[in-house]
Amino acid sequence: MFLLLLAVATQNPLTLVYTGDRMGKVEPCGCPQNPMGHIARQVAAIDGYRSSGENYLFFDLGNLFFESLQSPKELREQHARRAAILSRSVARMQLDFLVPGPTDFHAGFEGYKRLVSASKTPVLAADLSTKDGLPAFESHRVFKRAGKRILVIGIAGFTPQGSEFVLQDALDTVRSIRAKAGAVDITIVASHLDRPAALRLASEEPGLAAVLVADNHLHLIPKEAGGAVVVGSSKQGKHLAELKLWQRQSGAYAGGMKMRRLQIKLRKASGAERAVLQQELDGLNAGNTFKYRIEAMGEQRPEDAEVATWVKAYVHFVGRMEAARGVAPPGYDGSGDFAGFEVCAACHGKINEQWKNTRHAHAYQSLLDRGQQLDRECIACHSAGWRHPGGFSDPRSVGILKNVQCESCHGPGKAHAQSGDKALIERGKGEAKFCHRCHQEELETGFTEATHLPLIKHW
Ligand code: HEC
Ligand code: HEC
Ligand code: HEC
Ligand code: HEC
Repeated sequence: MFLLLLAVATQNPLTLVYTGDRMGKVEPCGCPQNPMGHIARQVAAIDGYRSSGENYLFFDLGNLFFESLQSPKELREQHARRAAILSRSVARMQLDFLVPGPTDFHAGFEGYKRLVSASKTPVLAADLSTKDGLPAFESHRVFKRAGKRILVIGIAGFTPQGSEFVLQDALDTVRSIRAKAGAVDITIVASHLDRPAALRLASEEPGLAAVLVADNHLHLIPKEAGGAVVVGSSKQGKHLAELKLWQRQSGAYAGGMKMRRLQIKLRKASGAERAVLQQELDGLNAGNTFKYRIEAMGEQRPEDAEVATWVKAYVHFVGRMEAARGVAPPGYDGSGDFAGFEVCAACHGKINEQWKNTRHAHAYQSLLDRGQQLDRECIACHSAGWRHPGGFSDPRSVGILKNVQCESCHGPGKAHAQSGDKALIERGKGEAKFCHRCHQEELETGFTEATHLPLIKHW
């Protein structure tokens, strides 16, 4: 018995390390307390895993290169450069494979092909074929890790925009590949399916070890279906998902909450109940088990020096590109619909004094500190009147509309300032919903009414 337990405990697992829905991000926006997601951290982290000598598969589940299918004209070059950094980073990480996601086809099939070719990484998508029935990508690969044969089947689950591809049924596709592939030890479906579709696939096709999805949610809880683990990744590169699989026999994988609940019960139990629980736990531990966690890519993580310089060069490039974009319109001076905070201060002096002591009054300085004040992807939440017809629309012309000031929240106020008529100004609402326009959940700043409202309240 003791020997058996020891063998179980020391058996080397297969560890799947993966991401999905990075959405073209190369660095965090800098906003939250501990901004997560720099691509240079992911590269360093993968390096760290690899040097530990264990058995890994490294991959990405799609929506890697772009956030959406279209970019506004002024952001096209910026987004293309980020995609290029990501493809070179994938090459540096030597990922085992990629699965496509819908937004990866931002520059069409040809654009995607260029990116994956620069990434030197195979794409697996068994359910996409051309009109003539030819495969659009590789369908599957068999990897050898620790003497085991691991079959990975890629499933896209969507028809790429602008392509002639035909989408095959995921279940039929997986079945026919398994039938062709012959004997393997572990079968994994790496997909861009949504979670319900992945769960259906797992329950209708027993014998899979895992069905992975690029589910756009954080802190996923693994589900078990048809004996397989169904679980997602993090998003925007904020974490690496890590799924360990201990395969000891054929049959279902147990782990996650089920094992944890048993362990907790066992700790509290005594006597006969304890023996029964222990037996149940031993039973599970003798079979196939899994462990899932996400590893945060926060500031404390080391960065790959080379990739970090690519990202720095990108930031500089954006600044240079914006600085050189034709002749800069004059800085906004109050001639439009916005008056600027100094005009408001004339009648709302006390509020102005209070506002000056909030972080809002320094929001533009935060961009300056990082040299990102000309980045169109930053300016909106760190100024007033961006892209408003009566405001400014060239980052160089911010003029007196720097910082999160009165009119960032109350809207254009010149007409009100001239008359003092309160019908001509937006009052707003002191509640989280009103602040979410900028304090988006995506930023993960832990914004709550209770912590944040009192710090700026002037009503
Ligand atoms: C000429 C003086 C004057 C200036 C300048 C002025 N306000 Fe006012 N503001 C008033 C008065 C008077 C009221 C009404 C106070 C009341 O009824 O309690 C008011 C009310 C408001 C209200 C509350 C509206 C409501 O529905 O309760 C807001 C918000 C406001 N001002 C914002 C601003 C902003 C932003 C600016 C600068 C763009 C500004 N004000 C400039 C005089 C001024
Ligand atoms: C126009 C965008 C915008 C809106 C709307 C907005 N904020 Fe902010 N807020 C920011 C930015 C940008 C910062 C960071 C400023 C900096 O430090 O550079 C910030 C920072 C803060 C901070 C400081 C946080 C800290 O950790 O010190 C508080 C508190 C805050 N906001 C509260 C609010 C509340 C409450 C609302 C809604 C009533 C609100 N904000 C609406 C953009 C906005
Ligand atoms: C969707 C709105 C939004 C956008 C877009 C945005 N920010 Fe922010 N930013 C915020 C908010 C809100 C905060 C305040 C977060 C907090 O502390 O609660 C903030 C805070 C910051 C801070 C201060 C962090 C600190 O605590 O010291 C920096 C620096 C910053 N942003 C840089 C950027 C850069 C660079 C970009 C563009 C790449 C950007 N932001 C784009 C909303 C935004
Ligand atoms: C971060 C967003 C934000 C900023 C910046 C901001 N306000 Fe407000 N302000 C609000 C909100 C929200 C309310 C209304 C709260 C409510 O009634 O629930 C408010 C209320 C007011 C009122 C009504 C006060 C009362 O007692 O009736 C005035 C006046 C006002 N603001 C003026 C200003 C001026 C002037 C500035 C700039 C110096 C400013 N605000 C900056 C969000 C903001």
